Amino acid sequence: MIHRITEFMSEDHDRLHAIFLGFQNSKYIDPNIANKLFYDFKIGLQRHIIWEEEILFNYLEDKKKALKSSASNSNPIALLRMHHTQIKDYLDKIHKKLENMDMDTDQLESWLMELLDEHNIQEEETIYPWIDEELSEREVEEALRELTIFQKKNITNVVNN
Ligand SMILES: [Fe+2]
Repeated sequence: MIHRITEFMSEDHDRLHAIFLGFQNSKYIDPNIANKLFYDFKIGLQRHIIWEEEILFNYLEDKKKALKSSASNSNPIALLRMHHTQIKDYLDKIHKKLENMDMDTDQLESWLMELLDEHNIQEEETIYPWIDEELSEREVEEALRELTIFQKKNITNVVNN
């Protein structure tokens, strides 16, 4: 049983990374399998981003104190939201190419991975532990419950519009 946001979200990062590697490994062997894996990765990552933007960051932003006490004037959440926009843009670009059976996506993949690596490290080392620390035990439980409910929803319509 998972008791911390850090654990729940980091596990999802690892799960998504494994799917992405599967996509890369099958790309030049079986494009159909590769495309299916990329689609799973895309939907999964978009859901992960919705978890953050619509559930987790709200908890943190409600604790205004926490944001003010962060070093300097920079708002780490605003930066992460900006990353999300870029990440979704890369996902769409790769997806469009693959839909047309254009497998020439290496450059886009490496830009996406570079951004995602930096982004995930920041979340796993700073933001998720921060959320676990700022929220009461009850709030963490509530947040985990919301994440799990959302996990079971079919989000294909939400993310593909
Ligand atoms: Fe994120």
